Amino acid sequence: MIGSKIIQLIKVDSTNNYARGIIGNREAEEGTVVLAYNQFSGRGQKENQWESEPGKNLTFSIILYPDFLKNEQQYLISKIISLGICTLLQRYINNNIRIKWPNDIYIKNKKIGGILIENSVMHEEIYYCIAGIGLNINQDMFGKHLYNPVSLKIITGKEFETEELLRQLLAIIDEYYSRLRKGKIKSIDDEFNSRLYLIDKMARFSDKKGEFNGMILGVNEFGQLLIDKEDKNKVCYSFKEVEFID
Ligand code: BTN
Repeated sequence: MIGSKIIQLIKVDSTNNYARGIIGNREAEEGTVVLAYNQFSGRGQKENQWESEPGKNLTFSIILYPDFLKNEQQYLISKIISLGICTLLQRYINNNIRIKWPNDIYIKNKKIGGILIENSVMHEEIYYCIAGIGLNINQDMFGKHLYNPVSLKIITGKEFETEELLRQLLAIIDEYYSRLRKGKIKSIDDEFNSRLYLIDKMARFSDKKGEFNGMILGVNEFGQLLIDKEDKNKVCYSFKEVEFID
């Protein structure tokens, strides 16, 4: 059960680093959560930093051993975590909550959360997975250098109890994880695609050949983004091969 053990830390560089330190040979129980009050050197995608004011937000990592998945299916973990965050936020926000491929949670054109999944793979199978989640809850102000951040408080005008939101979120993610374990991949893929930011809308992107217009058609089970380019070519992109131009 995800969250049956929660390690609460007052101060840590990164909950993902701490989680890696306690896994050893899978000694930490599956579903263990590492939660930080003050994460002072949080890491994001693409070597970015994840900044979070102490005590205001949720910054935590979940330890998983999804050995029922093949290496090439690892993006499914990211999908269920994103869907779990959307389900939680939808309880409090009327606006449509979207997943910006690959790992960002968006409300309109602002980012409220991000996910950093770090896997260890052995013999083509996932040996362990650390799912790091940063979700902005009660923070009012963000550094000017950050790109379009937002929090639940900024959107709703209300303060939230982070512990209560964590409790709900872990229960939701636990349900999605059971669905994944039962092999209900098609329903997860479909739900994920229905939440995808800019799906079926013409938008601007860039890849190694330059900028182009195109329409997102979905994300496959391997986590690749499928774009229908204006020149009528359909292209599948892996992580870092394509950028959104806002
Ligand atoms: C991103 O949007 O780039 C991903 C951000 C992930 C941040 C979380 S906060 C908890 C966990 N520990 C980290 O160092 N990073 C993740």
